[in-house]
Amino acid sequence: MHFTLLPILTSGFLLFAASGARASGFASTCNNIALSGTTLSAECGNGHGESFQASINTDDCIANYGGSLTCAPNGGYSASCNTCFIEPGTTDMLCDCRNGSGGTPASLIDLSRSRTRLC
Ligand SMILES: *[C@@H]1O[C@H](CO)[C@@H](O)[C@H](O)[C@H]1NC(C)=O
Repeated sequence: MHFTLLPILTSGFLLFAASGARASGFASTCNNIALSGTTLSAECGNGHGESFQASINTDDCIANYGGSLTCAPNGGYSASCNTCFIEPGTTDMLCDCRNGSGGTPASLIDLSRSRTRLC
């Protein structure tokens, strides 16, 4: 069984790598990127044909500065942003963020700047 399983895992990884060639950042090794509350989760390849579920709290790395989403440690954007979602098929997170003077402009941040981590 060990030797029959190996080619399946290997070809699965090649498909995964090929489909990820168009994507950048963590999207090149992760699929099914989803946002629930402030938790971003994804299924990420480990480079050996297997994948695992990964998740992070986006509040730990994204801030709202005057209505614009920006990468920042312990950013806590969710206190002043709402209706956040991931644009399907992309790594763009969109939110309505208060700008400090009465407006809540739509803001976008591309979460895939780094290959191995967010922001
Ligand atoms: C905030 O949004 C309001 C309403 O859209 C706008 O009038 C104001 O100029 C914005 N302020 C800043 C600092 O962007």
